[in-house]
Amino acid sequence: MASQAFTSLLEAIERGAFPRTRKWLWRGLYGMLSRGWRDEDWRFMNYGFLPAGEGVALAEADEVDRPFIGLYAQAVAGLPVEDARVLEVGSGRGGGARYIARYHGPASVTGVDYSPATVRLARRLNADTGILTFETGDAEKLPFADGSFDIVVNIESSHCYGDVPAFAREVARVLAPGGWFSFADMRGKSALDQMRQQLAVPGLVLRSESELSQGVIAALDAAEARKRARLAKIRFMRGFVTEFAGAKGSVLYRELSEGGVVYIAQRYQKAAG
Ligand SMILES: C[S@@+](CC[C@H](N)C(=O)[O-])C[C@H]1O[C@@H](n2cnc3c(N)ncnc32)[C@H](O)[C@@H]1O
Repeated sequence: MASQAFTSLLEAIERGAFPRTRKWLWRGLYGMLSRGWRDEDWRFMNYGFLPAGEGVALAEADEVDRPFIGLYAQAVAGLPVEDARVLEVGSGRGGGARYIARYHGPASVTGVDYSPATVRLARRLNADTGILTFETGDAEKLPFADGSFDIVVNIESSHCYGDVPAFAREVARVLAPGGWFSFADMRGKSALDQMRQQLAVPGLVLRSESELSQGVIAALDAAEARKRARLAKIRFMRGFVTEFAGAKGSVLYRELSEGGVVYIAQRYQKAAG
């Protein structure tokens, strides 16, 4: 039953069906997760990424989050983050913004998320990290002035949006000339070209694209035991949340393994001046 509900959700995403309704359903779901699950040690809501070979250096305390940090590490690798004004759109519980703030020396990191409960939780979970702020706002109508960021990061959030081209136009607007947009998310294989077209807005130049699927599966494997321990504590909707979490045996895990769902990273640069 849970598996069926999740399959229908994935199919609806792939078809691009009911974009507005879907957008607000996702918001309700994230709000519910943030209100119901307030664990101090849970700062990420992504499927993770473990690259082949050696990963980034992390403090001992952060090792437990390595699979989830991996998506952020690849997102900012080689970008001029030092002293930059960084925006994360769809910042969730704030672990990714926290990682960038603590490891990459930016001037500031702002996280924006459309779920007020999630923003409140991110503030609480990351209160120990300076230069980090969280605001409520919609990816499709960002509450920031033109040209106010040097780097925009967007991790595993865009599949929730009702209007992806509106989001991409907003990214182009809030980026300063020469600034970078680092994007990662998954889509059904047949929806990949549509996603590329949706992100190809005037002012953003595509600089690179890579497929992350294998590293995402490696991260799901690495996080399985911890995820199962957390899932065991849930009293309601456990089946649905197990599917949602991408645990082994879930539709998402299978689709990623078989290539029906593909996880992509892209980098764009805003045209200079
Ligand atoms: C799968 S979570 C990823 C969170 C975070 N990026 C991470 O990797 O841990 C997706 C996040 O995107 C947020 N989101 C979805 N649609 C949004 C929108 N239109 N505007 C802002 N945030 C949105 C959700 O509330 C949720 O926190």
